[in-house]
Amino acid sequence: MDELLALAPAPGGTASQGIVVRSKLAGIGGYLPERVVTNAELAAKVDTSDAWIRERTGIQQRHIAAPHETCAFMATQAARAALADAGADVSEVDAIILATATPDQAFPSTAVRVQAELGAGGFGFDISAACSGFVYALSMADSLIRTGAVRGVLVIGSEVYSRILDWTDRGTCVLFGDGAGAVFLRAGTGDGTGADTGILSTHLHADGRMGDILYVDGAVGRPDRPGHLVMQGREVFRHAVTRLSETVAEALEANNLPQSAIDWLVPHQANLRIIDGIGRKLGLPPERVVVTVDRHANTSAASIPLALSEAWHDGRIRRGQIVLMEALGGGLTWGSALVRM
Ligand code: UT7
Repeated sequence: MDELLALAPAPGGTASQGIVVRSKLAGIGGYLPERVVTNAELAAKVDTSDAWIRERTGIQQRHIAAPHETCAFMATQAARAALADAGADVSEVDAIILATATPDQAFPSTAVRVQAELGAGGFGFDISAACSGFVYALSMADSLIRTGAVRGVLVIGSEVYSRILDWTDRGTCVLFGDGAGAVFLRAGTGDGTGADTGILSTHLHADGRMGDILYVDGAVGRPDRPGHLVMQGREVFRHAVTRLSETVAEALEANNLPQSAIDWLVPHQANLRIIDGIGRKLGLPPERVVVTVDRHANTSAASIPLALSEAWHDGRIRRGQIVLMEALGGGLTWGSALVRM
């Protein structure tokens, strides 16, 4: 009995002679569809303007998937890039956790489609938490790694929102884009302090009472009736500012860190005004906030790993630095992940 207790997971890691298991971000990758659609192009089709979209959202363009750029295809490209970045062989993948609100089929999961494409073993499943999906997936992966169940996990966000948008609704169709991002997590160790590298904490929340302010009105896996995204933008905006501020404070408090410890904010990319607001709250100068919403628009569960991938590969984010990720989306769902790279 004593032996079992000694091996029981402790908060923040698996206890074993003062050493804890940590999920390390070994590699990061992204994929964006080739086709870029500008605001001007949209303004030729719906009653909107480049000026309105830029002023209200910060968006200038978005990538839109071609027919072959499915959720699984983009996820596989991003996963391959993350594995290559980690120098990892596919045999290291014990699990694939994929966040999406736009799977190609109701089942099998997109994760197992990716597994087959990669020739990976282990197991895989999808997570549905809309724009918070990547943070949710990261949290699940971290939990699995810390229990010792797995050692290598691909965490992917992949979205084809272009297929669920009502292209006649100017209130939503200008806001979203397609793409995929992935990280490969590898089990490592630390001493359980904030000086460790890897995932330091995740915090997840949901409030289903807000389910009707952002939802899809049709069925998954029905190309003939795929459903369209419906959003009360102003309401979602209001909740986003409040909830994200709370979750950022929660992450700092849980890790006993001051705001000044944050090197980078990698937020969900829904609206530049929301991103700027959180950055200001954290006292971060704009150059410490990773912004892709201007070029990618809102790619939902893919937005954080895509932003992370960009800032990692262009050399802005470096090993040892502290990165705070946060997201809010349909559900409502929201949460954060604090990571030392
Ligand atoms: O990722 C999941 C989480 N999602 C979010 O966080 C999104 C949060 N919400 C937002 O980002 C913003 O609320 C929007 C960008 C969606 C909308 O911006 P807003 O400043 O809240 O605008 P609004 O919805 O209050 O609309 C203002 C006006 C309205 O016209 P009236 O009623 O004032 O005459 C809209 O009809 O802007 C109009 N409008 C547009 N005009 C030109 C709405 N969409 C457009 C458009 N082009 N595309």
